[in-house]
Amino acid sequence: MRIPLLIANWKMNHNVNETIKFATGLERNLDKIDEAIDLVVCPPFTSLYSLSVIISESAAFEIGAQNCHFETSGAFTGEISPAFLAEMNCRYVLVGHSERRQHFFETSEACEKKIKAIFKHDMSPVYCVGETLEQRQSQKTFDIISEQLTKGLNSVTIPNNEEAELVIAYEPVWAIGTGNNATPEQAEEVHTFIRHFIEKKWGQEQASKTRLLYGGSVKPDNIKVLMAKENIDGALIGGASLDVDLFFKMVKETISQTN
Ligand code: PGA
Repeated sequence: MRIPLLIANWKMNHNVNETIKFATGLERNLDKIDEAIDLVVCPPFTSLYSLSVIISESAAFEIGAQNCHFETSGAFTGEISPAFLAEMNCRYVLVGHSERRQHFFETSEACEKKIKAIFKHDMSPVYCVGETLEQRQSQKTFDIISEQLTKGLNSVTIPNNEEAELVIAYEPVWAIGTGNNATPEQAEEVHTFIRHFIEKKWGQEQASKTRLLYGGSVKPDNIKVLMAKENIDGALIGGASLDVDLFFKMVKETISQTN
């Protein structure tokens, strides 16, 4: 049984005060639920410390980061070490989000190095893959996903412990921030492909426990039908995760689907 996982990706939004306000509001709401669901909030780096202080008192949700460098230290001006993120109690780190691939020219080869570094520090990478509209329209979706998975996970070994897990997020680029989410059927088709990829690479047991998230215009009114699909285990949520009430609505929708 895979426990549903919702990850809030705030991108470059919310300062420290806004982060604290959101976290306090979320804690208050989460007091009311005791169903099994895992929640992660990925704020900008500048909010991590404040969040880590709040989080240390309660474990209602986990902290994640949106990116990291693959080296532990050194002359990399402007970069953040995975060791620093671990020190901030981060449990998850996003890798290869399409905005990083597009605006910061991140390659799947660089993602592979980051994934290994994140595991080395006992955190869980959330590896993002997805095709552009042009690639989908020219029937290249599965080639692109396959290439991103092959290169990004090439020599990755998944640690055999409870500390860390591999999470994969399928985020079609054409669905991110556009209001046009993939249909549950389109998402499920790609998720099934990803699960087969994992099975071929690491075997049946790993494939059945790996959580696969869908991302791209997830909202309170579409999360339930997406979560109803067998291979969709959660969501990576951008815009709709900025508002604590909307985020909590999605938590409740997810719980109502899995019950
Ligand atoms: P969105 O973003 O929910 O605003 O489409 C998702 C993401 O970029 O992770």
